[in-house]
Amino acid sequence: MDRLAVYRRDLDGLQAAARLRSLAPRAGIDFASNDYLGLAQSERVRRAVASALQEGLPVGAAGSRLLRGNTDVQADFEAAAARFFGSEGALGFGGGYVANFAVITTLPQRGDLLLMDALSHASTHEGARAGRAQVATFRHGNVAHARDVITTWRRGGGTGSVWIAVESLYSMDGDVAPLDDLMALADQEGFLLVDEAHATGVFGPGGRGLAHHLEGRDNVLTLHTLGKALGGSGALVCGAHCLIDFLINRCRPFIFATAPSPLMAVAGREALAILQDEPWRREDLAGHVSAFGAEMARRLPQVPLSGSQIVPLIVGPNLQTMELAAAVQARGFDVRGIRPPTVPEGTSRLRVSLTLNASRADVVRLAEVLEELWPNM
Ligand SMILES: Cc1ncc(COP(=O)(O)O)c(C=O)c1O
Repeated sequence: MDRLAVYRRDLDGLQAAARLRSLAPRAGIDFASNDYLGLAQSERVRRAVASALQEGLPVGAAGSRLLRGNTDVQADFEAAAARFFGSEGALGFGGGYVANFAVITTLPQRGDLLLMDALSHASTHEGARAGRAQVATFRHGNVAHARDVITTWRRGGGTGSVWIAVESLYSMDGDVAPLDDLMALADQEGFLLVDEAHATGVFGPGGRGLAHHLEGRDNVLTLHTLGKALGGSGALVCGAHCLIDFLINRCRPFIFATAPSPLMAVAGREALAILQDEPWRREDLAGHVSAFGAEMARRLPQVPLSGSQIVPLIVGPNLQTMELAAAVQARGFDVRGIRPPTVPEGTSRLRVSLTLNASRADVVRLAEVLEELWPNM
């Protein structure tokens, strides 16, 4: 009996559809990471972590937060983060994926409606599947459609709260959510969950995110990941004390998991300090975005641009996308192809991620290379 046949068949199917993934080593100039501000390599963060270690900070939390795993550095970091982002409280998780999953499986109750933007991250979809609330999606960025879905649900007898889940800056499209209109809808119907993963550190006043002006409301929860512009790993859920206390008491992925490493709290705290002390990082990144946009508009005017540091260049078919990615990589640029199921069928793309790990000259050169390779696909 071939116990592995089912898995081999699945992998063969992926291969035939040009969707087989494998782990490739890092190579080339970084146009693929989410280290937008270059903080993963920051000397200041490294020094902060090194000196905390020197002073005896343990590497591991050694338990869940409710048992032995609570540390002063984690609690201090959460308090500092809440002050920085403008929320009542903040609670740390090991990563953004688990934090999204945790919030969505814990807060929306039976009888509520979880209403997600159709392009929400996989972690939101998985949370929706595993959670208690009814689930619906609305067309990407379309508030009128979100309102229609709610109206239909209410007409069908829905009486609970509506939890509207969106990303402030979409991870694969680089566009932004209409947050104020969604907030108005949430004020009538329930709550707004804003995943700030790709906006934290980059957008909003001082890098506080695109939903900064909404933080502190009792019906807003934000997710700030530490693994993208902040250069570490982990995530913070920010919101009202009552909701944070509810998570501490009812959220199984929080209760039954080892707390994040205290080293990440040290790194995260230093990263927040850097955001405040070194605004040039955001300005430099904005310069990269404008330079790349100007070069692309001149060289490949037919390719639409997002206007943020995430620039999806939609090719369409999987194979062509991966061939183009390989050709760009062969020129020394680490640009990755993104295929379904990460993005909808037929919209495979190069996801150009602009970061301070590339120089302005690299950014311009990438546009030149794209112009050269684009028509040859
Ligand atoms: C929008 C969004 N939310 C959440 C996550 C997950 O965050 P993490 O990588 O910290 O688990 C990602 C990462 O890919 C993301 O793009």
